[in-house]
Amino acid sequence: MVHAGLKGIIAAESEISLVDGEKGQLVYRGEWAATLAKEKSFEEVVYFLWNRTFPDKKLLEKFSTSLTEARFLKSYQKEILDQLPRNMDMMSVIRTVISSMGDKETTFPSTQQQGIRIVGLVPTIIAYRYRLLNDDSFVEPDASLSHVANFLYMLKGIVPEENHVRALSAYFILTMEHGLNASTFAARVIASTESDLVSAITGAIGAMKGPLHGGAPTGVIDLLDEIKREGSADRVLRRKLENKEKLMGFGHRIYKTRDPRASALSDITSEFYDDEEFKLAHEVENKAVELLKELKPGRNLYANVEYYAAAILRSIELPTELFTPAFTAARCAGWIAHVFEQNENNRIIRPSSTYIGDIPAE
Ligand code: COA
Repeated sequence: MVHAGLKGIIAAESEISLVDGEKGQLVYRGEWAATLAKEKSFEEVVYFLWNRTFPDKKLLEKFSTSLTEARFLKSYQKEILDQLPRNMDMMSVIRTVISSMGDKETTFPSTQQQGIRIVGLVPTIIAYRYRLLNDDSFVEPDASLSHVANFLYMLKGIVPEENHVRALSAYFILTMEHGLNASTFAARVIASTESDLVSAITGAIGAMKGPLHGGAPTGVIDLLDEIKREGSADRVLRRKLENKEKLMGFGHRIYKTRDPRASALSDITSEFYDDEEFKLAHEVENKAVELLKELKPGRNLYANVEYYAAAILRSIELPTELFTPAFTAARCAGWIAHVFEQNENNRIIRPSSTYIGDIPAE
C-alpha cells in the first residue's frame, strides 16, 4: 500500500515538539509554545530546544554572545551576495550563502557551535541582500541588540521599537518548530546519511522555499486590503466562498481548531497593539469563522498561523518579500534541533517505492 505524501506515517520518535491538531496544542519539550513566546527570549528558547533545559544567567550570556559573534558575514560571503543575479529570489540567496559555509560547519556529528553559526548568520544574509537590492548601504550587526532586534536594525538601519521586537520575537518563537513538517523531514533525511549540518539546512531551506510549505502570508494581506477597499467583510468573504475561493489564513492540514500559534500571536500582540489593522484582523476572523461554519459545515476551518503572522509582519513594516525568509530565520533553530536528535540515535531514512513500470522479458 502506498501512503501518498507519507500522510499518517510515523517516521521518527521525537521529544522536540507535540503538534496536536484536534486539541489545538503546540508543546516544545514539555512547555506550551505560547507560554514560551510570552515569557522567554528567542535566544532562551533556541537554547532550550537544543539542550532540553533553560540556560541559567551565565549560560544564556555565553550562548547569546556566541550567537552575536556569528552574525558577521565573511568577506567571501559578501562577495557571493554581491555577485548573485539581482533577480534571484531571497530564499535561493539564503540557500546559496548557507551552502557556502564550509570550514567548521561540515564536520560530523553536528555541533551546537555549528548550529549557532547558521542561526546567527541567516538574518544578516537577508538584511545584507535586502539593502543591496534597495541600493542602501549595509548596516553592520549591533552586538548590543538581541538577535531579533538586531535583525530589524540591520534591515531598517534604525533601532526598532520595543513593541516591534516583542511581536517579531513571539513570531520567531512560535514558528521555530513544528514537528515533522516537510523541511524538517528533509533535514533529518540528509542528517541520517551522516552528512553535515550545512547540507541538512541547505536541503531544508530548499524544501521551505516551495509555496506548499513556506508560502507567504501575503494572501492574507491582499484579503484584508480588499475588505478595507470594499468596506464590508461579509460581502467580500461571502463572494469568495460562493466563488469556491479559499480564504487565505484559514484552514490547516493538522489543526482542526484555531491554530494555537494564531491564538498566541493574537493574544500577545493585543497586549500592546491597539491599532486599526489588528481591530480589522479580529473582526474579519470572527466573520470568516462564522461564514465558514455556514458555507463549509463540518470542515472545522479556523484561523491559521499565517493569519496573525500577516497582521504582525505588516504592523512591523516588514516587506512582504521577506515574510518567508523571516520564517526561515526562525525555523532554522527547529531544523537544527532535529538534526541533533537524528544524530543522537541515527538510522538512515530509506523508504521504499513500488515499481509500476514494465519488466523486460526474461
Ligand atoms: N477557505 C475556504 N474553504 C476552505 C479553506 C479556506 N481557507 N481551507 C479548506 N477549505 C475547504 C476546502 O475547499 C475543502 O472543501 P470541500 O470539502 O468542499 O472540498 C475542505 O475545506 C477541506 O480542505 P482541504 O484543501 O482538503 O484541506 P487541506 O488539509 O488539504 O488543506 C490548507 C489545508 C491549509 C492547504 C487549506 O486549508 C488552505 O488552502 N488554506 C488557505 C491557505 C492558507 O491559509 N495557507 C496557510 C496554511 S498555514
